[in-house]
Amino acid sequence: MVKVLFVCLGNICRSPLAEGVFKHIVTQRGLQEKIIVKSAGTSGWHLGEPPDPRSVTVARNHGIVLDSLGRKAISEDFETYDYIIAMDKSNFNHLQNLRATGGTAKAKLLLMRDFDEVGKGLDVPDPYYGGDDGFDKVYQMLDRSCRKLLDEIVKQHDLK
Ligand code: 4NP
Repeated sequence: MVKVLFVCLGNICRSPLAEGVFKHIVTQRGLQEKIIVKSAGTSGWHLGEPPDPRSVTVARNHGIVLDSLGRKAISEDFETYDYIIAMDKSNFNHLQNLRATGGTAKAKLLLMRDFDEVGKGLDVPDPYYGGDDGFDKVYQMLDRSCRKLLDEIVKQHDLK
């Protein structure tokens, strides 16, 4: 099994949507028995909470059901997961520090939009304080990025 963890700040807007989008694409490609997908936050502000209703709505508009509950990323995640995907550079830096406190860290830490051909290396902006159009934009970024990320994982692990 290849294990992938998406991480943002609150684990209620971006990373649950990334989890849902990635799972959806994984299933479309028939790889759901080979790839495990989860999400977490760098903060513990929304522990146990379902995703923000605006993320739920944009996902539903694309036929995707979100079912994650808020969890905080821990250093052991670097032992559990093969890929940890940060939504923005602040999340990335936080995770890098978290990894430093861990033991055997196998996970590759990557930035989500390093896989986005439209805006490589940019942040997935935090849509929490903005309007609904911010969530649509985030969805588009995640959809583009997740497709490329899956291509890369399929190649790396020779999945069929
Ligand atoms: P997320 O968005 O990191 O994409 O889940 C946020 C959610 C909540 C807060 C900030 C960002 N907050 O300040 O509670």
